Amino acid sequence: MKNPLFLFALLVCLQVRAQTSVSLIPQPVELQVLVGSFVVDAKTTISFTTPEAKKMADALAQKLSAATGFSLVAKNGTAGTIKLLLNQTPNAQLGREGYTLEATTKGVVLQANQAAGLFYGVQTMLQLLPKEIEGKGVAKVNWVIPALKITDYPRFGWRGIMFDVSRHFFSKDDVKKYIDQLAKLKFNTFHWHLTDDNGWRIEIKSLPKLTEIGAWRVARTGHYGDRAEPKEGEAATYGGFYTHDDVREIVQFAADRNVTIVPEIDVPGHSMAALAAYPELSCTKAKVYVNPGTPFSDWYGNGTFKMKVENTLNPSDEKVYEFLDKVFTEVAELFPNQYIHVGGDECYKGYWLQDAGCQALMKKLNIRHVEDLQGYFMNRVEQILAKKGKKLLGWDEILEGGISKSATVMSWRGVKGGIEAAHLGHDVVMTPTTFAYIDYNQGDVSVDPPIYANLRLQKTYSFEPVPEGVEAKHILGGQGNLWTEQIPNLRHAEYMTYPRGWALAEVYWSPKAAKNWPNFVERVENYFDRADAAAVNYSRAIYDPIIKITHGSSGKLALEMESEAPNLSIYYTTDDTMPDQFSPKYGTLVALPDGPITLRVQAFRNGKPIGHLITLKRADLEKRIGR
Ligand code: ACM
Repeated sequence: MKNPLFLFALLVCLQVRAQTSVSLIPQPVELQVLVGSFVVDAKTTISFTTPEAKKMADALAQKLSAATGFSLVAKNGTAGTIKLLLNQTPNAQLGREGYTLEATTKGVVLQANQAAGLFYGVQTMLQLLPKEIEGKGVAKVNWVIPALKITDYPRFGWRGIMFDVSRHFFSKDDVKKYIDQLAKLKFNTFHWHLTDDNGWRIEIKSLPKLTEIGAWRVARTGHYGDRAEPKEGEAATYGGFYTHDDVREIVQFAADRNVTIVPEIDVPGHSMAALAAYPELSCTKAKVYVNPGTPFSDWYGNGTFKMKVENTLNPSDEKVYEFLDKVFTEVAELFPNQYIHVGGDECYKGYWLQDAGCQALMKKLNIRHVEDLQGYFMNRVEQILAKKGKKLLGWDEILEGGISKSATVMSWRGVKGGIEAAHLGHDVVMTPTTFAYIDYNQGDVSVDPPIYANLRLQKTYSFEPVPEGVEAKHILGGQGNLWTEQIPNLRHAEYMTYPRGWALAEVYWSPKAAKNWPNFVERVENYFDRADAAAVNYSRAIYDPIIKITHGSSGKLALEMESEAPNLSIYYTTDDTMPDQFSPKYGTLVALPDGPITLRVQAFRNGKPIGHLITLKRADLEKRIGR
């Protein structure tokens, strides 16, 4: 060791080890990689000291046994080579969800103040093991945990994903599987969008038609928004709902993984499924059906729109509040957390404007603008929730009609609603379209199914949830939102969620100063392998070239390309041949030839094609100019 060159070489080796062997998402607060590793083998023992720790220790033993083939059992005490300990004296730095993890060649010690911290420490431990830990069945690999020291705790207390089960129905098992994946990423909030125009998904025993009628629509496939109306007499066969028992089972499943469920009943707009069941609750009382994705609204490009079919509850009808009281009584009983999300977004007021009852109410309340009727409605809803001991949470439109300070605001139309709400003293959850809408297209629109907007992984990763000038104490945290108009099954829900969900897990958990895109992409690529082992779907859009077209000089179209992943070479053709590594290699701006060309682009890494072949005809290219 006296030889400085040897010492230098050793340090370089350790450095390389540190970079290659530990790859965690989300990135922990402090991570120090040490020399050596702990080997899990048939002699490994797991111990715990309290009933809460036992639950985590049993789960770890089960997972390890299933993958390694060793019969590991968790035992009471402190004798295990893997110890799960709850701190007798809380470590203030860790809070409720933090943990410390120390692995040496001799063993692993996981410590936390509370069960949630142990749960997250176990998730980190699993990520430290070879990817085969994620697979089904026994794998013959070297089951090592690198020696290291971790101190870890979340930046935000609210780390969520919203899942829309109205536009498409997802079974109880789908929902559990999705929550299980989120919990591994240290998300702690599952916002369950249970009602909308396309299906009412929660049993309300006192209002049985909500699910007898509201949970079912005619079966349609194809692009949502372009689908055909129901035919005369056509049976409503697509759909489903969760019974009270289903909800209780899912709530418990989530709680076992430190996930709180926030239910959303979206009112007064987005209520077509409820109105299909109880048309008397609208202004016109017209018969409507649960919508299968027909073109029922016109959008004018500046956020304003017209509903061609009425989908709003009538705020001037006392029966509406009686209805909501019944709904929220049952919802409040089923979900133990303090919040109920009541929607409030995209409420079209055209039918209110024409309604005599609404006009009379406005006069009585001295309200000049119909928009402010929503404020009245939301305040009535807040009073109903308060009676049930629940706090109101709503989309940022709830600010427009005026809402009490105690309401929590979910900022979705960018961050401006969140900034305004925080300045007014509201608590805020950040979910802006610009960074957190994981229903948006994440790759090239010629590859991925078309969605109305695009959001790349790098943009999501760049999200900073606390806007400048806003008091951080008002920002509870944030979410990703997965709307499912174009998501018919769980595999595609996973594809849309990941890897952007990994980015958001890190945005909401890891310290702001830890943000490092190149390092994150490296971990994302590692995590692809783990997702493969776990049979979790994800998008590989980071390998697909990002194609920009502009007007070049001399009237030609100019092609510019970049990619999110490192170490890619992009090859392209415009002569109707398939691009390979002997085709032109993209370096800098290309002037495309005139005429009816087709551009074909393929990225390569280490001599192998990676990501998708992108094929664009001239008309497609022209449509992209300046985009
Ligand atoms: C929303 O995306 N309508 C909240």
